[in-house]
Amino acid sequence: MPIASDHSVRFALDGRVVSVDVAEPTTTVLEYLREQAGRTGTKEGCAEGDCGACTVVLGELNSSGGIDYRAVNSCIRFLATIDGKELVTVESLQQGAALHPVQQAMVDCHGSQCGFCTPGFVMSLFALYQQQAQHPKEHQFGDQTAPARTEVIDTLSGNLCRCTGYRPIIDAGCRMSAYPTPARWSRDDGQSSSRVTTLASLQRETALTLPGFQAPRSLAAFAAAYQAAPDSLILAGGTDIGLWVTKHLRELPPILYVGEVVELQQLVVSDDGIEIGAAVSLTAAWAAIVEQIPQLAELAQRFASPPVRNSGTLCGNLANGSPIGDAMPALIALGADIDLRCGDAVRRLPLENFYLGYQKKDLQPGEFLTSVRIPKPAPGLIFESYKLSKRIDQDISAVCAAFAITLTGDTISSARIAFGGMAATPMRAPATEAALIGQPFTAATIATAAAKLADDYTPLSDMRASSAYRLQTAMNLLKRFHLQHSGSGTLLRTDQAQAVEAAL
Ligand SMILES: Cc1cc2nc3c(=O)[nH]c(=O)nc-3n(C[C@H](O)[C@H](O)[C@H](O)COP(=O)(O)OP(=O)(O)OC[C@H]3O[C@@H](n4cnc5c(N)ncnc54)[C@H](O)[C@@H]3O)c2cc1C
Ligand code: FES
Ligand code: FES
Repeated sequence: MPIASDHSVRFALDGRVVSVDVAEPTTTVLEYLREQAGRTGTKEGCAEGDCGACTVVLGELNSSGGIDYRAVNSCIRFLATIDGKELVTVESLQQGAALHPVQQAMVDCHGSQCGFCTPGFVMSLFALYQQQAQHPKEHQFGDQTAPARTEVIDTLSGNLCRCTGYRPIIDAGCRMSAYPTPARWSRDDGQSSSRVTTLASLQRETALTLPGFQAPRSLAAFAAAYQAAPDSLILAGGTDIGLWVTKHLRELPPILYVGEVVELQQLVVSDDGIEIGAAVSLTAAWAAIVEQIPQLAELAQRFASPPVRNSGTLCGNLANGSPIGDAMPALIALGADIDLRCGDAVRRLPLENFYLGYQKKDLQPGEFLTSVRIPKPAPGLIFESYKLSKRIDQDISAVCAAFAITLTGDTISSARIAFGGMAATPMRAPATEAALIGQPFTAATIATAAAKLADDYTPLSDMRASSAYRLQTAMNLLKRFHLQHSGSGTLLRTDQAQAVEAAL
């Protein structure tokens, strides 16, 4: 097999190796598919990762010698970042006149009307179908191997349909595994191992370097390149940066891509906690976090959508540092640290000290995040995080809260509270914390402390929420935290969510 050229992007498409000379580093996968490859089955709706019309699937070699297939939004994914991967589009599913099981289930369940959204839904379901074929046990539901309805609903949370209605599409997702698997996509057939061989042949040993785009492969090379050119733009998953191009039409400086740096792909779980490297996807990061800290399951599920989480990284969320980013309040309340590197120099910083002001971070020229470390919660820590947004799925928070307290007897002996959406940066609530520490964990203490939130924060009014709403809901969330952990509360949102799911 030929060695990959360092100057062209190479990926597998329907069993062939495709090599593209990318003149513009911000060319998206969607632009390539529609304008160069003539694959117009992949649609453009919003061009910002929100609607799912552009969903394609990427295959990557995994450590067990197989291929993991994950849905991504092609509209905000730069083509240069799919180097060495397999690209699967809706056209790839065609096999003569036979429809793929996902497509057949969509037909049989009446899951499509105008059809504009359909290729995106099909590709999201196809990714689930392949994951299920690869890891049948993880997707087992009772004694069935069909995906659970809730898993289908979560899989489709990044796909919008404006005419069919979601029930028939979800039905198709639940039914798809009842159809025989086409030989081409089965795990054990010869063609899947030829796909593995093709992908293996595309793996590089030297860095991909295109005009305006470099993908160093080692941490030392990355650090040296950034120190030499500190005006470069660090690109991770591109789920924030992609929109700077497609929506803000910004010209980007030369790009340094973290995705290929081997050391940054590490995720280590130890007795001390979890360390997550800067190239680890949000999907992998949240899975590890939720395993250790199950209270974050809902936040993880409501963070963007599966295609966004498959591309985006946790460190990208922290580095972007949006005041309404969802990971920061929880990680600050849990006492997370970040590791930074500049050339050969490394330093460690509590995450809460990283944010200096709106869009201002404690980063020197040439310095970047290498990982985030989330300590294992101390025994007895009472912890919760809540996200408030207008929609349950794929919505930006109006307010995001995290509370972590410990009790000694009935007395609150420590408190860490952090909010997003309440100030120019994600921020702790020192006055509120002070009003809690040393007090009994009672409704009266909570009421006194909640009033102190007005000393800690002066929230803005914007299109998502008014200042008064933010302050009131922040107080209510603290009360909710107390109700939930003093045994006297009813979890209304959870009940509502269950009712919505039951109705679907
Ligand atoms: C449809 C949609 C829904 C979304 N929903 C949510 C949501 O629910 N909650 C939420 O919080 N966010 C959400 N986001 C925002 C985004 O997905 C996250 O902020 C994500 O974690 C960004 O990670 P990334 O790897 O894609 O970052 P990128 O876009 O690659 O980079 C973001 C910024 O971080 C910098 N950067 C990245 N890595 C490093 C590093 N190692 N060192 C220094 N700087 C670095 C980049 O230079 C850039 O400034 C959503 C985005 C989209 C498109
Ligand atoms: S076009 Fe809407 S998510 Fe890509
Ligand atoms: S079928 Fe028309 S938008 Fe979904």
